[in-house]
Amino acid sequence: MDYLALNKAAWDKRTELHVDSDFYDVNGFLAGNSSLKSIERELMGDINGKKLLHLQCHFGLDSLSWARLGAEVTAVDLSSEAIKRAEELAEKTGLKAEFICSDVYAFGDTNQTTYDWVFVSYGALCWLPDITRWAQVIANSLKPGGKLCLAEFHPVHDLVSGYGYFHRDEADLDEEGTYTENDDGEESPMLTWGHPLSDVVNALIHAGLNIELLNEYDYSPYNCFEDLTERAAGEFVYEHEHYNSPLVYAIVASKK
Ligand SMILES: C[S@@+](CC[C@H](N)C(=O)[O-])C[C@H]1O[C@@H](n2cnc3c(N)ncnc32)[C@H](O)[C@@H]1O
Repeated sequence: MDYLALNKAAWDKRTELHVDSDFYDVNGFLAGNSSLKSIERELMGDINGKKLLHLQCHFGLDSLSWARLGAEVTAVDLSSEAIKRAEELAEKTGLKAEFICSDVYAFGDTNQTTYDWVFVSYGALCWLPDITRWAQVIANSLKPGGKLCLAEFHPVHDLVSGYGYFHRDEADLDEEGTYTENDDGEESPMLTWGHPLSDVVNALIHAGLNIELLNEYDYSPYNCFEDLTERAAGEFVYEHEHYNSPLVYAIVASKK
């Protein structure tokens, strides 16, 4: 099965819904709001004047929010619909960013540019079959001293949601709609892979990166899973056996 064709079709369809959703709040973004969350804002600090590569940028809200903070942004996504919408948003706002429609691995095979930061966030890694190859793309895209900021959903929540924790070469095939409130009930087939925390950390170490920080969070800044409750503004928690389950982790890793 051609996983890239299948997942591209699903993300093209999701993107059409997402741009009109309250979840992504494009009008708020056009009015000047940032789509970035405090987790990545705090971990990345002052980004003004930095060259930033955003992998799996969806329709560019975060990429353009970094551009609004002064970053020189290049952003990559598999979905041609997402890239088209991102370019439209750039034009509407007058913000500058280069958007590239590509698979992450194919981008890594040809990219010659190096960056101060690579940013990857929330719901990215499950679409990639090979985490070792992903980490090599990151390492090759960084300048010496450059850093990765990964803010990702915690794989323990996959387990709680009925998926396996450990990686299997065989993909999980799901028929799903989407996570925004305007889901139209139409389902698309999608292929995903689980990546436990140890695989991600080890892949980055083996790619030659220095892990500077690994955080785990008991909340998600997105209300995108079933049965979450909002304990404070923008902090959604999942209670499992009376305890909050880990929902997000973040890694900052640097190139020597
Ligand atoms: C959950 S979204 C990213 C979330 C992002 N933080 C956001 O909400 O703006 C996942 C993105 O990964 C992209 N994607 C999936 N597989 C990919 C691949 N192999 N290469 C590049 N992008 C991919 C999808 O098109 C989608 O836009």
